[in-house]
Amino acid sequence: MPLTIGVPKELAAGEKRVATVPEVVEKLIKLGFAVEVEAGAGEAANCDDDAYRAAGAKVVGSASELWSSSDVVFKVRAPTADEVPLVREGSTLISFIWPAQNPDLMQQLAARKATVLAIDSLPRMLSRAQKMDALTSMAGIVGYRAVIEAANAFGRFFAGQVTAAGKVPPAKVFIAGAGVAGLAAIGTAVGLGAIVRANDTRAEVADQVKSMGGEFVKVDYEEEGSGGGGYAKVMSEGFQAAQREMYAKQAREVDIIITTALIPGKPAPRLITAEMVRSMKPGSVIVDLAAEQGGNCELTEPGQAVVRHGVTIIGYTDLPSRLAKQSSTLYATNLLRLTEELCKTKDGNIDVNMDDEAIRGLTVIRNGEITWPPPAPKIAAAPPAAAAAKPPAPAAKSHGHGAAGQPASAGSTAITFAVAAALFWFIGAYAPPAFLGHFTVFVLACFVGYMVIWNVTPALHTPLMSVTNAISSIIAIGALVQIAPPVAEGVQRPEAWIIGLGVVSVALVAINMFGGFAVTQRMLQMFRK
Ligand code: NAI
Repeated sequence: MPLTIGVPKELAAGEKRVATVPEVVEKLIKLGFAVEVEAGAGEAANCDDDAYRAAGAKVVGSASELWSSSDVVFKVRAPTADEVPLVREGSTLISFIWPAQNPDLMQQLAARKATVLAIDSLPRMLSRAQKMDALTSMAGIVGYRAVIEAANAFGRFFAGQVTAAGKVPPAKVFIAGAGVAGLAAIGTAVGLGAIVRANDTRAEVADQVKSMGGEFVKVDYEEEGSGGGGYAKVMSEGFQAAQREMYAKQAREVDIIITTALIPGKPAPRLITAEMVRSMKPGSVIVDLAAEQGGNCELTEPGQAVVRHGVTIIGYTDLPSRLAKQSSTLYATNLLRLTEELCKTKDGNIDVNMDDEAIRGLTVIRNGEITWPPPAPKIAAAPPAAAAAKPPAPAAKSHGHGAAGQPASAGSTAITFAVAAALFWFIGAYAPPAFLGHFTVFVLACFVGYMVIWNVTPALHTPLMSVTNAISSIIAIGALVQIAPPVAEGVQRPEAWIIGLGVVSVALVAINMFGGFAVTQRMLQMFRK
């Protein structure tokens, strides 16, 4: 018996998103489910009831009717006090829940004997989970919208211009925290023509900032800020003092600050003091994305835009809702991908497989039993702790010398060279001349390849792989020699089947060659402005 997926209207004040959109309804029906939507649920996100009907959903009049007939309920916001009593025994709820922040809600939902999948608890570092990652899709929207809000409140152009009436300098934007929202904000502000700088406590994001077109500004203090799993940790007092100094300098220089800094489970770090706000130019703008978690700026008022010391400070907490159609579509797609994982048989039934690491992480209540927090994940996204424990790097880093980039001592380098020299002498003295020729080419190729690849920034390693893949098609020459061997005395024409194999090889290699270069070209386009 296929299950019914129900989508109620969101009750939270100002919430305009809806958990599924008509385009996704069709795909859910293809998976074998029946879909019901509460009347008016998608109105604020530009999805009217008729569009849902046309996609094959049934539109029902009231929330109570919807909850009672649905086996699986898709929601955006965690259920309110009015909605909890509507949760049916044995049903499944998929929604944002924030179990750590809402222990009472967890108890109430468990008492309803339902199964609850909290989309915010998805183990984000599993690459398989990325298609279901609603936190990332929402943060991308938030970063974009933060720049649009800033542009709206800012009294000048973002891009510099030379006009008949005079020269307009470009706006300078500083982004604090380069996570998902921060990187999206960098991309948007660069796209509008601003000069963008950014800072983050996790050193690994510096390359990402650069690849988005921003400049990474370092804090003058050696401390790794990665707390594991791609998240930050609380920094030492010394670091914080050095960071405040750098932020104070940026505040005096820039026109717009967008703060996105957040450490999971902790109040947002205070990065922008009242003093820094006072030092900004009149007409400047701060957008504080962490307003809901206490704010990165001392003067932020959550949910509001206020003017303090001539600076507009925006603390809106409903940014995804301000792009309701876009965020609903992305959220609906994330839930569709999750449903595909839950319904591999495509027969309109779901299987909450607790052996699947992604599903296990999401499932916070299973048939009335609280299963949150999940056991620690088996994979770690951050580099091993050994890297963090290393002493601070010397000022002039020797790039690429010594095995795997480790600075080698003079003694061990000398030994390596001595062994290598002895080996070469041995080969030179005893190997046949033909081997020696090939060996020389091989050693030179290794050396040249190493020197070329070592200097490529890590962000470009994927296009590099595809281009080397294309270059490896040089083996086409081998196939061509088989098809048409050089005309010389004593060289026989190969047999027909060898020529046939050569032709097939050339065809396959051509796909590799042209495909490799085409893919490289497309990837490089993503890095070009
Ligand atoms: P994220 O966890 O990916 O990024 C936060 C970044 O801040 C991380 O890169 C982290 O390393 C950095 N950070 C932490 N402490 C720092 C410090 N002291 N100095 C500099 N950087 C520091 O989070 P995501 O998904 O990008 O979200 C960003 C913000 O947007 C969060 O505050 C989140 O709550 C907020 N948000 C706001 C919404 C709104 O409507 N206003 C809606 C959704 C999210």
